[in-house]
Amino acid sequence: MSFIKHCIFDLDGVIVDTAKFHYLAWKRLAKELGFELKPIQNERLKGVSRVQSLEILLSIGNIKASDAEKSRMADQKNEWYVQYISSMTPKDILPGAKEFILKVRENGIKTSLGSVSKNAALILEKIAITHLFDCIVDGTRITKAKPDPQVFLISCEELAVTPSESVVFEDSIAGIQAALAGGMHSIGIGNAKILSMAERIIPDFTHVDMSILVY
Ligand code: BG6
Ligand code: MG
Repeated sequence: MSFIKHCIFDLDGVIVDTAKFHYLAWKRLAKELGFELKPIQNERLKGVSRVQSLEILLSIGNIKASDAEKSRMADQKNEWYVQYISSMTPKDILPGAKEFILKVRENGIKTSLGSVSKNAALILEKIAITHLFDCIVDGTRITKAKPDPQVFLISCEELAVTPSESVVFEDSIAGIQAALAGGMHSIGIGNAKILSMAERIIPDFTHVDMSILVY
């Protein structure tokens, strides 16, 4: 039996339901470009960077664009996204998430944020939980987005814990792949069919206790 020393939490879709705002903004861009972005196609956009999400979106719509057009599209998507998240408050934290993070900390386990979003600091501030993390790694600190494990490896290194003593909580396929590639344990949050490669899967943070951290 081994105990986890470090929990790494993704942000979008794990702590807050911002995954729906990312989807709405990409869907709006797709509509402007003349096609529909379906929920199942949107799964491919989760967890990857803004630029990579745009590339995937354009390939879904079979659309070619110059670098300047891509840059304008990414800026437009982000403008809409930032508008959607502007009214977020601590009430928007997903059920049980804050309580679970607090319980983890009470048990002497380190906590990190591992998100490729460049808006992560803004969201953490809005929902007032920045102080609950020993280490915050976001899109402004990485050079490689998920499924590369860099976003998770940085916090392991900074907190001097090994990947095998760490567990990643993720709602995206790319994020679970990143945890597997980095040698961390993985817990999928959400749909068991979509996240089938995760070591463990829970629907959300309600009714979860510390026993989930025993391996
Ligand atoms: C991830 C989301 O957390 O952040 C992706 O799952 C998103 O959907 C990515 O594209 C980048 O976010 P942002 O806020 O920097 O555009
Ligand atoms: Mg996510």
